[in-house]
Amino acid sequence: MEMKVPFQLANNTPLSLSPDFILPEFKRPILSKVFPSDSIPIIDLNDHEIDEGQGSSPLVSKISQACEEYGFFQIINHGVPKELCQKVLAVVTEFFQLPHEERAQYLTKDHTKQVKVFNYYQKYEGLGKVIMWSETFSHPWHPIEDFTHLLPTNPPQYREVFAEYAKEIGALMDRLLSLISQGLGLEKDCLKKKIGERASLYSQANYYPPCPDPELTMGIPAHNDIVALTVLLQSEGVTGLQVIKEEKWVPVDPVPHSFVVNLADQIQVLSNGRYKSVDHRAVTNKWLPRVSLAMFYAPNNDIVIGPIEDLIDEEHPPKYRNYSYKEFMDEFYRQEGKRRRVKEAFELQR
Ligand code: OGA
Ligand code: NI
Repeated sequence: MEMKVPFQLANNTPLSLSPDFILPEFKRPILSKVFPSDSIPIIDLNDHEIDEGQGSSPLVSKISQACEEYGFFQIINHGVPKELCQKVLAVVTEFFQLPHEERAQYLTKDHTKQVKVFNYYQKYEGLGKVIMWSETFSHPWHPIEDFTHLLPTNPPQYREVFAEYAKEIGALMDRLLSLISQGLGLEKDCLKKKIGERASLYSQANYYPPCPDPELTMGIPAHNDIVALTVLLQSEGVTGLQVIKEEKWVPVDPVPHSFVVNLADQIQVLSNGRYKSVDHRAVTNKWLPRVSLAMFYAPNNDIVIGPIEDLIDEEHPPKYRNYSYKEFMDEFYRQEGKRRRVKEAFELQR
């Protein structure tokens, strides 16, 4: 019989319901209070894409509506081979299931490190630091040839599988950015150009071990993604991701062979607030480990982001000031340990 070894964080802390992991009462998830009926749209990317004319494609309008109302959607028939998605989740899972000493080599608090293992935490007044019930592994994914040599050699297939997956996600991201641009009534390549040809693309794998009492902990606390766009692959059959819709938490239950797409802060700003970067979180469960792999698409530090001129007129005055992505990231790090409100710092007062 297989022995069940309790999960240890890479820093050798056993994951247990010690006070280090227990949230203050007002921050705990109330798992009976979720609203499955309001869950995010599922969009079939095989829906006819009509090339001529603007706004005539049903796919573009579905995506546009999802971006305005939810900021989140799931996509099916996206063209990324199923076996590849299964393989990439398998190597990521294997990585997290290595002995903690193996993962510890990537452990760092230095956010300039390209390849890193870290643990989310929040600081609460009078309580100090509470560690989240998860571990995270992050590294760049494009141009993958430049980074492959930095990636793990254990599990042995990690580099090869990840490189293949990164290529597929690159093509999918381009397609999504084009559809989202069209939804805003812009040229197909508009968002891609605004974010910049040399974008900063990195992945974040999250591992959530089973938790004896999911009502006391959180996998990842409520946050917005600060990048431009996120494409997330999650374990099938295990729920955990939740998003806010009209102030209620709505579960994003995995749909077979799908991705979760979410608009992040930079697209909210570029669209002048028309498309939303929505609050989301990951809760834990008692029974099964959950794995997710987020692929982020962000501008480079020197890129200037602000509302796109074509989306601004007298009725729609700019809601944000222009900033460089470096400024945005500095603000992000300044808010370390808090429930971050990063883009709010760039809002124009009216
Ligand atoms: C993230 C994230 C959610 C999940 O990595 O930014 O929101 O389901 N992950 O793991
Ligand atoms: Ni997120």
